[in-house]
Amino acid sequence: MFITFEGVDGSGKTTQAQLLKEFLENKGHSVLLTREPGGTKFAEAIRNLLLHIHDPINPMTEVYLYCAARNEHYHKIILPALKEGKIVISDRFYDSTIAYQGAGRKLGIDKMIEMNQEFILNSKPEITFFLDTPLSIIEERLNRKKMDRMEKAGIHFLADVREGYLEIMRREPKRVFSINGRLTETDINRLIIEKFLEQISL
Ligand code: TMP
Repeated sequence: MFITFEGVDGSGKTTQAQLLKEFLENKGHSVLLTREPGGTKFAEAIRNLLLHIHDPINPMTEVYLYCAARNEHYHKIILPALKEGKIVISDRFYDSTIAYQGAGRKLGIDKMIEMNQEFILNSKPEITFFLDTPLSIIEERLNRKKMDRMEKAGIHFLADVREGYLEIMRREPKRVFSINGRLTETDINRLIIEKFLEQISL
């Protein structure tokens, strides 16, 4: 089973992915928690380039790098773990490219879907949680930390990214569920578990 977490930077998805992992492990399941960009040595090196080299790059170069990292991660980590029967939770997957590069960088949602379909062989997460946290809260959170290259793109960019996620949800309402990121960590965790159990019979 393949589960993904999505949201704009600072939405709280990483904490929630970890909490779901703990819940599933306590139920006796074997769980792999991983992230994008990253998950392999090579893909983590690409992550470092994408987030910590602050020179501007061409948007298509950015997409190719995210997709290169995903190709490594998907074939070396995600697919083998799924074949072993593990539950795989990924903190971001191709919806991030659709939202960030498709909508945020304005490269086009359909173009990004097409590009990703080519190498991830049409396999989709069974369930995706979109942490929808108000942009005013996101702005406050980001201002309190040292921002990486993507976070420096600013709140208007993240507003476009959020629109991208809303479009994905409109297209795939049976896979992608929005969770109100304004709630407390505990309430969000409870909602995610409820939705998860409603959708998936373990
Ligand atoms: P995060 O994993 O800490 O959220 O950081 C990853 C950053 O990379 C975040 O700003 C979202 C961005 N990103 C893309 O722009 N496209 C992608 O395909 C992925 C996976 C991430």
